[in-house]
Amino acid sequence: MSKLWGGRFAKKTDSLVHQFNASIDFDARLYDEDITGSIAWARGLVGAGVLTAVEAETIITGLEQVRAEFAAGNFAFAPDDEDVHTAVERRMTEIIGPVGGKLHTGRSRNDQVATDFRLWVMRACDEMQTWLADLQQALIVSAEANLNLPMPGYTHLQHAQPITWGHWALSHFWPLARDGKRFEQVQEQAAILPLGAAALAGTAYPVDREFLAQELGFTAVSPNSLDAVSDRDFAADFLYAAAMTGLHLSRLSEQLILYSSAEFGFVRLDDGYSTGSSLMPQKKNPDTLELTRGKSGRLIGNLMGLLTTLKGLPSTYDKDLQEDKEPLFDAFDTLGLALPVMAGLIRTLQLRPERMAAQLEPSLLATDLADYLVKKGMPFRQAHGAVGQVVQLAEEKGVALTAVSLTELRSISELFGEDVTAVFQIKTALAQRTVKGGTAPAALKNQLLEAKQALRV
Ligand code: ARG
Repeated sequence: MSKLWGGRFAKKTDSLVHQFNASIDFDARLYDEDITGSIAWARGLVGAGVLTAVEAETIITGLEQVRAEFAAGNFAFAPDDEDVHTAVERRMTEIIGPVGGKLHTGRSRNDQVATDFRLWVMRACDEMQTWLADLQQALIVSAEANLNLPMPGYTHLQHAQPITWGHWALSHFWPLARDGKRFEQVQEQAAILPLGAAALAGTAYPVDREFLAQELGFTAVSPNSLDAVSDRDFAADFLYAAAMTGLHLSRLSEQLILYSSAEFGFVRLDDGYSTGSSLMPQKKNPDTLELTRGKSGRLIGNLMGLLTTLKGLPSTYDKDLQEDKEPLFDAFDTLGLALPVMAGLIRTLQLRPERMAAQLEPSLLATDLADYLVKKGMPFRQAHGAVGQVVQLAEEKGVALTAVSLTELRSISELFGEDVTAVFQIKTALAQRTVKGGTAPAALKNQLLEAKQALRV
């Protein structure tokens, strides 16, 4: 068996070089796209008068048989198969005979691989959106079940203001909605057909590229053949979208790791989603969350790796571009597990309202106390200062904000009256924030509706 490009070579490739050069180990997973692309090309060659309809049908039958062999897992790789393109063509020609040798007329692996890879990315974006939507759905269910359950909200990881579980759960819904949109945009960018660009200068046969685009589900035809074979922007876009998704999952993980700790104790992970320690019998570890947080590093690394590979390439195709596929496959496989795992973890997560309630201490209501003074006519800056004094007083006495007496309050500001006790209610504080996006029950009801509508599209 010899190389498909071996004609001008007097010597066999060094075996290590063959190994170094080959991409078959990882690009075999493009077999389906490669065969679909080749079938369209065969039809295009009929239109260009290169193949007869009968020859094209013979080639297509051969290609379909190769597809079936791959799908059944019994495709026999040959030692000289360098990549998926050469392997498919070699096998197809074995099956149908020398007419198979006509398929590559006017085509190069350069436009072929770009076409295959774009087809793969277009499909992968659909899968990503499905996985994202499933996790978003899990967050919606969790939010709805405990929409108005009060819990402390944090800035700088310090007690800030009361919020609710529903508000918090939905705050992790929207980043994922943006990720879904990003994958949609990546899909649009990928849907531009490079086939027909050939090696670099454009095919010398009158193949109808619009027809090819239509056959393969591309929305446009690349405008410049030199750019077409070297453009991997869509791959970098995909990795950016994946890195952002990973980053969002990582932040959600980090927060749940904290919330499941003994110190917070707001949530309990289901046994099916946590693991034990080989030494300490009492341990229940959030390994799934830690791994999700950890894997965000590799997702960012994949993006950086590809950008670095691309940055210095002279036009047009360079073999460096073969390095484009593994980071995407890795990102896809990583999220293909991380997203469903996170969805399951959210679906089985137990909340501990009593632990949240225990942390709802009155200092979370300090802003509301300042707002009380504002409503009585005091400028906010001044009210902020006055409540600061109340906080200081409470701290000095070692008591809660609510335990400062009315007389003491009045020594700080005359505006404090009997009605101040009404301020010291978590429920009241929550109910004030009716602004769109706020934590009040009415606002959350609307937000939940908006989230459900966003998911339906
Ligand atoms: N395996 C190659 C890749 O993934 C296919 C294109 C090879 N083209 C070439 N001129 N050697 O990029």
